[in-house]
Amino acid sequence: MSSTNSLPSRRVLLISGSLRHGSTNTAMLQTVVAIAPENVDAELYCGISELPYFEPDLDRHPLPQQVQGLRDAVRGADAILICTPEYAAALPGAFKNLLEWLIGDEHPRSMGAGKPVTWINVSTATTGAANAHESLRLVLRYAGANLVSEFNIPVARQLVGSDGLIADAGVRVAVQAALDALVDATNLAGSQ
Ligand SMILES: Cc1cc2nc3c(=O)[nH]c(=O)nc-3n(C[C@H](O)[C@H](O)[C@H](O)COP(=O)(O)O)c2cc1C
Repeated sequence: MSSTNSLPSRRVLLISGSLRHGSTNTAMLQTVVAIAPENVDAELYCGISELPYFEPDLDRHPLPQQVQGLRDAVRGADAILICTPEYAAALPGAFKNLLEWLIGDEHPRSMGAGKPVTWINVSTATTGAANAHESLRLVLRYAGANLVSEFNIPVARQLVGSDGLIADAGVRVAVQAALDALVDATNLAGSQ
């Protein structure tokens, strides 16, 4: 039984940096949805490919509908869990674009509203996708995010089942620990 079961209900927004069908990063987050205890409403954000390119001139009322949807999803969450690959020694462009829309909110550095943010690094590369994750660390710090520990849980492509989930018991134990740590952080942050 998860230690979160006795805690109040929490909403966790899951954001994948990969648009790829069969993505290991998205599979990790879908697995989080599958294992989340009853008191955790884990929702996978699916609008990344619909977002316009970040442009300060568009960052005014009325916002593009897709941007409004992203910001509403972030505002409605008690915590954010990210999973992203590395492309060309950096964060994927689409995912960086999403982060820019969050930072460009009318409240500068808006992800820093005390909301706990963490990420799981699923890379199996010998480099551990270190450049992307260093970049993510910098962006989240810039955004003033309340950074909870990062987790390294390598996921080979063959671990992703036809249902889009990761069944591996070791991975699931590690994922549960990551989710529990994030939910515990929402209690420390006093999220409502
Ligand atoms: C264009 C391109 C560039 C990539 N660049 C890197 C890289 O710089 N470092 C790295 O570790 N992996 C790199 N990769 C590998 C991806 O990060 C890897 O395939 C990852 O599993 C993709 O995540 P996904 O399974 O969630 O789609 C690259 C892949 C592509 C297609």
